Amino acid sequence: MNNHQKVAIIGAGRWGTNHIRTATSILGNQNVLVCDTDSNTRLRIKSAFPDINFTTSFADVYNSEEYHMVIVATPAETHYKLAKELLMHGKHVLIEKPVTLILDDARELVDLAAEKQKIMMVGHVLLYHPAVSKLKVMIDSGTIGKLQYIYSNRLNLGAIRSEENILWSFAPHDVSLIQYITGDNPIEITAQGAAFVQPSIEDTTLTYLKYSSGVNAHIFVSWLHPFKEQRLVVIGTEGMLVFEDSLPDEKLKLFRKGFRNEDGVVAKFDYEYEVVEFDKKMPLAEEHLHFYDCVARNKKPLTDGVHAYEVLKILVDATNSLKK
Ligand SMILES: NC(=O)c1ccc[n+]([C@@H]2O[C@H](COP(=O)([O-])OP(=O)(O)OC[C@H]3O[C@@H](n4cnc5c(N)ncnc54)[C@H](O)[C@@H]3O)[C@@H](O)[C@H]2O)c1
Repeated sequence: MNNHQKVAIIGAGRWGTNHIRTATSILGNQNVLVCDTDSNTRLRIKSAFPDINFTTSFADVYNSEEYHMVIVATPAETHYKLAKELLMHGKHVLIEKPVTLILDDARELVDLAAEKQKIMMVGHVLLYHPAVSKLKVMIDSGTIGKLQYIYSNRLNLGAIRSEENILWSFAPHDVSLIQYITGDNPIEITAQGAAFVQPSIEDTTLTYLKYSSGVNAHIFVSWLHPFKEQRLVVIGTEGMLVFEDSLPDEKLKLFRKGFRNEDGVVAKFDYEYEVVEFDKKMPLAEEHLHFYDCVARNKKPLTDGVHAYEVLKILVDATNSLKK
């Protein structure tokens, strides 16, 4: 790692603190600047990360001559305004998901980053999970044949949010995953959901996606569920891959199961599953290293602004369907 690299992190809340821990472990405390408007966080951050730099002023970040890379880990409704200011001041940005709440805002940021020739990356962290990288390589090399069906469950009890529903809180991860696997945009999006805990804020949603290739997919997300389950299932003509991040081990499995049409007769094949090994690396650390590398080498990020825009478009379309 280039030891001249420094990163600023805006927002030291629940997720922002993970960014701070990750950045300090890679770059060292003295190369990280934290900005949070809540002055109470100063003490907490300073005691957990001695020697770290802290400010409550956003202007200190965008006017800084030292910090060219900035991570925006504030609530989603603030992303557009903060990221715009940062790009205008020539900063490279890594924005947390969802990139913005409004499609036009995301488009504007993508265009601004291009105009300013700055890196714009979005924190779709699952695409940096080594199990997902492995799964993608296996799918692309034909291990499970032709893709047919994908589903993703992201279920847990809480934490409930009042500023967004479950679709916007959990599903950006699943949409991003399915976009990555299919390398395509859906031609049809429908969603249904239900609100039980707070009026008009869905606790559970089911989104159905259809692709022109014939691939179909669904995403089931809920924070009103008795246990944690993060399960992705990918069905192909020659086998099935299952990624269960909520399991302590054996997270990625290959099942040689399915049906073949042999001379007009449908025959089942059904063998034992095999556990697929993958590198044991931390997804958020991989995300940071990718961001730093893209900035250093002027490379297009895997989860760039365009990827995030497409994820956002699916969320917006699903929301429109949900509200019908
Ligand atoms: N990638 C993931 O897996 C993942 C997981 C959780 C949250 N997130 C995303 O991370 C972001 C933050 O979520 P969180 O749960 O940490 O929120 P949070 O409410 O816990 O923390 C937000 C922090 O930002 C600070 N803040 C708000 N406005 C600010 C401003 N203008 N300038 C400086 N500081 C400001 C607040 O004081 C607070 O400390 C959201 O976009 C969320 O969707 C991503």
